[in-house]
Amino acid sequence: MIVPASMFTQPSSARPQFTAAEIAAVRGENPAHLHSLIPARCYYDEDIYKFEVEQVLKKHWLAVGRWDWAEKPGDYFTATMFGEPLVVVRDRAGTLRCLVNACRHRWARVVDEGSGNTSVLMCPYHRWTYNLDGSLRAIAREGIPGFNKDNCALPSIRLEVWEGTIFINFDRDAAPLAPQLAGLEPLIGRFKLGEMRTAGRVNYDTSWNYKYSFETGYEAYHHCGIHNERLEKYAPPEVHDQIAFGTIWGAYGGHFPLEVDTLENRFPLGIPPWMPESEAREPDRRRSIFVGVYPSLITFIQPHQISMITTEHIGVDHNRASTHISIAPWALERSENSERIRTMAKSMRDVQDEDTYGCEVLQKGVRSTYNDRSVIHPRFEPQLSHYHQWLLDQYLTA
Ligand code: FES
Ligand SMILES: [Fe+2]
Repeated sequence: MIVPASMFTQPSSARPQFTAAEIAAVRGENPAHLHSLIPARCYYDEDIYKFEVEQVLKKHWLAVGRWDWAEKPGDYFTATMFGEPLVVVRDRAGTLRCLVNACRHRWARVVDEGSGNTSVLMCPYHRWTYNLDGSLRAIAREGIPGFNKDNCALPSIRLEVWEGTIFINFDRDAAPLAPQLAGLEPLIGRFKLGEMRTAGRVNYDTSWNYKYSFETGYEAYHHCGIHNERLEKYAPPEVHDQIAFGTIWGAYGGHFPLEVDTLENRFPLGIPPWMPESEAREPDRRRSIFVGVYPSLITFIQPHQISMITTEHIGVDHNRASTHISIAPWALERSENSERIRTMAKSMRDVQDEDTYGCEVLQKGVRSTYNDRSVIHPRFEPQLSHYHQWLLDQYLTA
């Protein structure tokens, strides 16, 4: 029987349509140059989401975790993206790999969800075993005529580690990530983020579109809202400014307001060994940097830590997310810091709880049929405009 090729290919998703007025609003093409978000339906419409998965999310670099989640040979952790079961594993040579976690025999999940250490990847169903690089090592009960083991490796997804964060990309032709983020080097290079170690993590299911997780860290305007009690005093919107933009990234940052700009607040884990003391003592200097890597990674960076939200993409308004903090090795080595680091990890969880509430109320409001145009605050939210113009370009041209 001849099987039509179409049986094995996904139907392509239709490109979403936007009116000229919607496009002009995102681009700020009006007399006041006010910018809007992309239309509200981009946060809940299933068809737009399908297009976004195939043409945006699967074609760009998606963060799945940190280097030390699989630090030693044989260490692994699983993730699921768009229903694809994946396992990120460090092979014997020390290379991190992202493999499809589905057996080539009859597609059973090979590695249980979670993390661990193993010398081989063994499918539980009939015990086919795979090497840590994904190649098929052995099958139970040899003797399949014409069978070629070399054709049965677990498929490999592209993986890159940038500054200690593991990114994957489903597009074999996508441009490498590091050169696209090279513009961030002058801003954060000396922090040595790639050496920082995970010191706290919270995993949770979300009931909102992934863009809300990203956006909740991509402006400090909401510090006067959902974080009013916790952050308004130390990080009000006014002390934050945009810093720089690349094609797929943006950075904004802040400093402490003068009345709380003490050495202890600036450097709660001590002055970094690489920083001249004169610099550490300078007031009014930007020491917190938020970096967004489009389409979905948001990070908060200080000389002693990086925190971020990574997302396992599931559906238009439900995902699995992880908020985690990594600390610089020089800060971890100082024994007096252990309690402070625990406090920081707790504070990260508390801030995430407030952001979770923020994302929930956004998703609850977004379906209103009265949501025609939004307003981006030009002083406090210009990063959102950069992100949304990038998203719009993807919808129109991807
Ligand atoms: S399905 Fe994996 S060994 Fe059979
Ligand atoms: Fe927040």
